Amino acid sequence: MVPAPFGSTDDGRDVDVLRIGSPPGVVLELLTLGAAVHRLEVPTGDGQRRNVVLGHASVADRLASNAYLGATIGRYANRIARGRFTLDGRDVRVPAHDRGNSLHGGPDGFDRRVWEVRELTDDAAVLGLVSPDGDMGFPGTVDVTVRYEVTGLSVRVTHEASTDAVTVVNLTNHSYFNLDGDGAGTVDDHLLTVQADHFTPVDATGIPLGDHESVAGTPFDLRSPSPVGPAVRSPHDQIALARGIDHNFVVRGDGLRLAAVLESPRTDARLELWSDQPGLQVYTGNFLDGALRSSAGVAYRQGDGIALEPQLHPDTPNHPGWPSARLAPGERYRATLEWRFGPDPERLDRSHLAPSE
Ligand code: GLA
Repeated sequence: MVPAPFGSTDDGRDVDVLRIGSPPGVVLELLTLGAAVHRLEVPTGDGQRRNVVLGHASVADRLASNAYLGATIGRYANRIARGRFTLDGRDVRVPAHDRGNSLHGGPDGFDRRVWEVRELTDDAAVLGLVSPDGDMGFPGTVDVTVRYEVTGLSVRVTHEASTDAVTVVNLTNHSYFNLDGDGAGTVDDHLLTVQADHFTPVDATGIPLGDHESVAGTPFDLRSPSPVGPAVRSPHDQIALARGIDHNFVVRGDGLRLAAVLESPRTDARLELWSDQPGLQVYTGNFLDGALRSSAGVAYRQGDGIALEPQLHPDTPNHPGWPSARLAPGERYRATLEWRFGPDPERLDRSHLAPSE
């Protein structure tokens, strides 16, 4: 499909919608604004087709929102403490606009840019962006591409970047899922599995306290399918601080592997998230407070969707022992995720699972 007009920004930038895939498989709609997932229609096990991601109806609603629905996040997904870090001995400062820290690449992050369409076929789209040297305080001119490719019931998202000077890069997609459909209420009854023995406790501003900790005996133990509702209502200190789950998990194993499974018994729907990243931010929509209108025409409230964001661990530039975000000229950053939909659990090939500790 050729790009179709979606709207325009106040400063006159046109935003297009791109559609890839076709029934009976996945149909994915993307926006050039934020290289964002706008709609993701899949067959659910009850014989229906549903849009299983949250989205905004207009450009104005997107730009008024700070929920990052479906957006590509960069240059640095998640937080950098006080917006400061040292890179090859140089002090770097980036905007500290979220409770005193940098979040998701700054107030004018990649999610607010209109990306260029570099390739579009029936099943794939490549969106590109050149982020200039000094963009939101980050050094180096960075060329970024995000490739979305639909095959049957799967979507593969490949993030790539190169730079002309040493910098940090940590890209992700910020889709919120609701397997009962956009606007269907909360995901409290969804079952979540996260392939992680450890998570990263944070302070009240979302910055890692120190090291990773065992999930054993905590509401973060999602190693077997667990309903979301009881986890986000746990009296655990970390849940209270974040108003739910807004935490980074240390995903077991490496390479492209199963990181999480989300299931809805109500619609017999199932999503496997595969990722090659060390961390997974699980965010239960804690800040959705009724102020945002959805593309389904209703207001979004707490817990109406769950974001599963594969990425490095938060504040990595200030944790030299954690997998690094450093990107140098001549290197290529690459991060791949896959969403595999399907009602049938037997599809799950467990041979790729790393053993639990
Ligand atoms: C991420 C963060 C959350 C929140 C959302 C957007 O998931 O970890 O704290 O900022 O993005 O609202």
